[in-house]
Amino acid sequence: PRPLLMDCDTGIDDAIALLYLCLTPGVDLRAVTTVAGNTSAEQAAVNTLQVLETAGRTDVPVAAGAATTLRGDTNEEATFVHGEGGLGGVRLPAPTAALDPRHAAELIVDTARAAGGDLEILATAPLTNLALALRAEPRLPQLVRHVTVMGGAVHHPGNISPVAEANIGHDPEAAALVLAAGWDLTVVPLDVTMRENLTEAHRLRLLAHGTPVSRLAGEILDFYFAFHEESALPFRGSACHDPLAAGIAVGEVTPKLAPRLPVTVDTADGAARGALVADTRGIHRGYPELPGANAVVVLETDGTFPELLVERLCRPGE
Ligand code: BDR
Ligand code: CA
Repeated sequence: PRPLLMDCDTGIDDAIALLYLCLTPGVDLRAVTTVAGNTSAEQAAVNTLQVLETAGRTDVPVAAGAATTLRGDTNEEATFVHGEGGLGGVRLPAPTAALDPRHAAELIVDTARAAGGDLEILATAPLTNLALALRAEPRLPQLVRHVTVMGGAVHHPGNISPVAEANIGHDPEAAALVLAAGWDLTVVPLDVTMRENLTEAHRLRLLAHGTPVSRLAGEILDFYFAFHEESALPFRGSACHDPLAAGIAVGEVTPKLAPRLPVTVDTADGAARGALVADTRGIHRGYPELPGANAVVVLETDGTFPELLVERLCRPGE
């Protein structure tokens, strides 16, 4: 089993990614940490406990982390994308498990140390907690086997500005730090997550399957679909941001195009603040690696992940 920590801002698609990880054999979910993004860090932590409880995983430690960005800004919550409370307005019973008293950054460092170099991290939210963990333990990159980040837009437009995607753009300083930290890193940008689409047929299958996990997924997707239909997709359905990153992190998705590239973040105040800057010059000529490459950037997948995801969430007996 692969020890994994997920840092997220639970959020509809974060919740689906969590459910997917809980139902995927071979994934050893060691901890979940939360940060302000789709909703507050505290609300995201409560949502996480509720989602994990739905999947029968009250044993996983959950800690809340940064409420503001590294430079102290407070971002607006994305209620218009994820609904009141972050889970599409769906109300769940109060969780029976308590939050871990540690700060998310502390739980990240402790979990990495305990895993003896084997821990993999999946980050599907602004990267503030990871940046704080790096500050607290500068040797963290040596203690972690791999980091997968859902974030950025390379050739695709941004989603919080013409060029910035939410997870990178809501804390550009943190993202810059995390990208430059020197660990083994994979970045999953909008270029691929916007093209792996869940549809109403998927959602109806989830609801019809009728288990607590599949029903929760189907119910929270209703709000997400309405948002996407209004603003981002020409049909009723959704992107598959965080679940796709999870699929890539655990090795169930093999990208079709994923070059190693030099990747930075624009942290200047201006029109491009928060943009992921990936140097894709020359990749069409098959350059295996550009000098200064620091991340594998997933630029193409085959579009079949949503089917696998729905099948997994409808696993018999779950
Ligand atoms: C990212 O932003 C959040 O709204 C989603 O949960 C995802 O992590 C997509 O830009
Ligand atoms: Ca997220």
